[in-house]
Amino acid sequence: MEWIYYIIEPIYLLAALLFILALRAMSNPATARRGIVWAGFGMLLAVASTVLIPATLPASSTLEMNFVLMAIAVAVGGAIAYYAAIKVQMTNMPQMVAIYNGMGGGAAAGIAAVDLMLGGWPANMYSPLDIVGGLIGSISFAGSLVAFLKLQGWMTQKPVTFPGQNVVNLVILFLAALFGAFFLAQPGFLSGIPVSFLILFFVFGLLYGLFMTLPIGGADMPVVISLYNALTGMAVGIDGFALNNYAMIIAGVIVGAAGSLLTLLMAKAMNRSISNVLFSAFGSKEESGATIQGSMKPTDPDDVAVMLAYAAKVIIAPGYGMAVAQAQGKVKEMTDILEAKGVSVKFGIHPVAGRMPGHMNVLLAEAGVSYDKLFDIDEINPEFATTDVAMVIGANDTVNPAAHRQGSPLFGMPILEVEQAHNVVVLKRGQGKGFAGIENDLFYRDNCKMLYGDAQDSLGKVIQALKKL
Ligand code: TAP
Repeated sequence: MEWIYYIIEPIYLLAALLFILALRAMSNPATARRGIVWAGFGMLLAVASTVLIPATLPASSTLEMNFVLMAIAVAVGGAIAYYAAIKVQMTNMPQMVAIYNGMGGGAAAGIAAVDLMLGGWPANMYSPLDIVGGLIGSISFAGSLVAFLKLQGWMTQKPVTFPGQNVVNLVILFLAALFGAFFLAQPGFLSGIPVSFLILFFVFGLLYGLFMTLPIGGADMPVVISLYNALTGMAVGIDGFALNNYAMIIAGVIVGAAGSLLTLLMAKAMNRSISNVLFSAFGSKEESGATIQGSMKPTDPDDVAVMLAYAAKVIIAPGYGMAVAQAQGKVKEMTDILEAKGVSVKFGIHPVAGRMPGHMNVLLAEAGVSYDKLFDIDEINPEFATTDVAMVIGANDTVNPAAHRQGSPLFGMPILEVEQAHNVVVLKRGQGKGFAGIENDLFYRDNCKMLYGDAQDSLGKVIQALKKL
């Protein structure tokens, strides 16, 4: 059956090529959809050709049974994933990414476990790789599940902390490593059943993932999810080395590298180090000593329309509320009307606006807003001081000047400096706080007016008023 590898390996190479091209395509919103399709096709090729590997199909009477089991697993997994993907709301996408990420880590841990159990004893040269892959995979699995529960609101989004937490976590990690080493050294050491060390190893690996994620607050979940994404990739890559499977090695390395870069970018966007995200229980303390002066000043759509129509320059700062309200279509319509009146309209895109990386870019692209109107935080911030109207649509944390104040849980996070504009209009439903749960003194500033209501509804009324002018 050795000849079969002459078929499988070129297919793996083709799949790897598709993964790389797909990732490249995903770096631009215009080509991202194509990238997703290529990656899916690459994965289909990789899975289909893996089924052909002789070891997957033992030449015995279990052969048919193996096929049946694999077909059932693919059908059940595929059906659940298809249904979930069709049903998921755009605003719930981060949870979906978190849970799929966790599944990847769990699969990597499962593969390592099977390889370790089938490998027999004494451990072979690949067993340490399986231990490392299994540990990273189980951490990623349990951690991603906690991230899912937090983002879904099925458990508190606040950091869960207790005294000596970092030490307890280190002990758990140490025990996981210790049981892994015991299994490699002498599987039957304690109980005489080789598997028991393996079970303890995985239990402590899973516990570490759980305990590592509990103290991390909801606002840091984007960084955590991309970190687990990187870990899942690493686990798959390491398993690939243990199994001598090129598709797993290449796919794992690509995901690991892309996830690591994304983690660093997200941490930089929040002006935090990775260790600060992981170990500081950010957001567990309430802000102290900040008293907000002034009051929120409501306005109405007619006044906002006049302000906009007579402006020379408008900058829109969209946030999570725009996604909730699905207001992107109305944003585009209003932009077109203003541009027809000779107003310059630009968009300031905060890297963590919304609930997933690129959330605002995707929504605005869907509505047909051209990419050359979107500016990142460093490009747009110097422009606010010369802007007539900054329109904040459902954004809160990403425009909160508390980020400049020492002692604030947001301290240090770069924000869109909308408060520097001559006038600020904020579209939100009421007095709701942002994701970080912190009061926003922007709303109380003299140059700021509040247009209360669902963002889509409010924009509809502003558009009507603009059309009458
Ligand atoms: P947020 O701080 O989440 O604030 C959103 C605001 O939108 C709320 O204050 C809410 O106020 C308003 N809103 C909700 N529904 C609305 C609707 N239908 N119409 C109008 N307004 C509505 O938004 P942001 O500025 O985009 O910041 C994002 C936050 O999420 C950051 O803290 C970030 O760290 C975190 N986060 C980001 C990500 C990624 S990767 N982007 C992932 C997870 C978490 P009302 O209730 O008063 O309407």
